[in-house]
Amino acid sequence: MKVRKAVIPAAGLGTRFLPATKATAKEMLPIIDKPTIQYIVEEAIASGIEDILIVTGKGKRSIEDHFDTAPELEQNLLSKNKLEMLASVQESSNIKIHFIRQKQPLGLGDAILQAKAFVGNEPFVVLLGDDIVESEVPCVKQLINQYEHTQNSIIGVQTVPKEHTNRYGIINPQEEVTSHLFKVRGFVEKPKIEEAPSQLAILGRYLLTPAIFELLETQESGSGDEIQLTDAIDRLNKIEDVLAYDFAGKRYDVGDKFGFVDTTIRFALKHPEIKVQVQALINELAD
Ligand code: G1P
Repeated sequence: MKVRKAVIPAAGLGTRFLPATKATAKEMLPIIDKPTIQYIVEEAIASGIEDILIVTGKGKRSIEDHFDTAPELEQNLLSKNKLEMLASVQESSNIKIHFIRQKQPLGLGDAILQAKAFVGNEPFVVLLGDDIVESEVPCVKQLINQYEHTQNSIIGVQTVPKEHTNRYGIINPQEEVTSHLFKVRGFVEKPKIEEAPSQLAILGRYLLTPAIFELLETQESGSGDEIQLTDAIDRLNKIEDVLAYDFAGKRYDVGDKFGFVDTTIRFALKHPEIKVQVQALINELAD
């Protein structure tokens, strides 16, 4: 079955960016001139996804506005003949996006459960907004390519430093079935560093069969007292094989302050409008 639908959870409170996120959705914080969530939406579209559901929560109206038309702004740019800017504003509203609200912040697993009716009985992908991935083949497309061979749920992973294993869902790999594709013994959310079964971390890209929803409905709270997607995936793996794919690409962590600054600097050094100035600034600061 063709993978056509994507779910992007964007209901998180953004506590790592307070006070910036007191009245602004963290997904709207820009890397240079584009909100982080737009990078995520663009990856889904570049991967052939046709329908996107964004799961929002309180205080996230600006995300809906961002993907809506903006008649006054568009008219203003048109009258000033700022056509390039007009195109960039219109680009984000040409996409077919649906929204649903998570009523209470009960965790990532509960946010994904809100997508049950939207997804129906099809395989679908999940993209988390804290991870931006740059790769030749879009990350989600890499998972879809694997799915087309195996028809299994596929979770995107990459190696992280041992001392960071307690920040992620970590897999316990069983065997590499084909290049970069693993059978998995278990999935564990944010293990203690000394208990992490490997350094292969779930990095915000999932391809799931709809069987996950039944499990999410009965999923009890886990790490951080939240309903964890990782825990439901671990249960799914006991019913039907869930594979892990060590995807190709550079992953940027925009979910915390340092990662955000790191990503901003790296993207600035590639941005055609400002890269020369930014490089000069860095050279000056290094002297
Ligand atoms: C979530 C997932 C975790 C995953 C991580 C990737 O955690 O629960 O399994 O490794 O995203 O960024 P969060 O960062 O929302 O706490």
